[in-house]
Amino acid sequence: MLGCGTVGGEVVRLLREQATELAARAGAPVELVGVAVRRPQRHADLGELVTADASGLVTRDDVDVVVEVIGGIEPARTLLLEALKAGKSVVTANKALLAEDGAALAEAADASGADLYYEASVAGAIPLLRPLRESLAGDRITRVAGIVNGTTNFILSAMTESGASYAEALEEATRLGYAEADPSADVDGYDAASKAAILASLAFHTRVTSADVHCEGIREVSAADIAAAAGMDCVIKLLAICERTPADGDTPESVSARVHPAMIPASHPLAAVDGAFNAVFVEAEAAGQLMFYGQGAGGAPTASAVLGDLVAVARNRTVGGRGPRESTYASLPVRPMGTV
Ligand code: HSE
Repeated sequence: MLGCGTVGGEVVRLLREQATELAARAGAPVELVGVAVRRPQRHADLGELVTADASGLVTRDDVDVVVEVIGGIEPARTLLLEALKAGKSVVTANKALLAEDGAALAEAADASGADLYYEASVAGAIPLLRPLRESLAGDRITRVAGIVNGTTNFILSAMTESGASYAEALEEATRLGYAEADPSADVDGYDAASKAAILASLAFHTRVTSADVHCEGIREVSAADIAAAAGMDCVIKLLAICERTPADGDTPESVSARVHPAMIPASHPLAAVDGAFNAVFVEAEAAGQLMFYGQGAGGAPTASAVLGDLVAVARNRTVGGRGPRESTYASLPVRPMGTV
């Protein structure tokens, strides 16, 4: 495992507590053989497992799977590419890296036959990426929209319900382990934009990167805005919206993704999504509308998704299966930022 913060700590706890059940479900023991962290002295509880040599760990012979929970672009990208090239499968929660350079990871996984899973990167505990990639693979998704950042949802909920100030609410979200290491990624919308890029890529089978996503955060949302919305029987939520736009004359079919605060009627189901919960609506031509709801941030909920992927990789190894292949996405044009 690379990193051992809020999510990593919960992965270790669950791996230890559920070792027997996980082995039964995976078809083989799932054993933690090393944890790479920047400051080993802070993780004395991990004893011999802990190391500062991340690069050495990811290529070790006794490592089959690398779980990455450090976040950010570097050193995560270099380490994961090294691991994939060495044939190690990867389970990652790193939305920023996937949204910026997911194609490079997918190509490296395809080239070596390793698996790449990242359910924890979007909407924490909610099983969302697997349904988009697998359950709905036979349908035509037209829209994915909802609340995908727990920190900003927690802040907006607290400002709406208890009249908390923006600063107080952010401090509490950080204390509860929802916020990113640098919470500007949450409040400026970048975290949600990364998730929108991943959702759009899977939903529309095309490669959408974070640079393609129009992004506006919640810093400018004031108590007066929230009160004005309430006066119109609305609430303010930070929404991520990914859409397929049909061809029109000479303009080909395209996709777009955007993140911005939006006023929604208090009667809409998304208005009732409070705290660090996420909720995402998916619309598909045959399936109609689907709603996914649950805890989108926090250590244990995110660790649940990581462990699900870990079991999937282990099962693939024990029964000889392979994870999804994603380097060959069809290319629907992505509408540039600012034109949505
Ligand atoms: N900081 C993220 C959030 C964590 O608040 O949603 C989960 O990706």
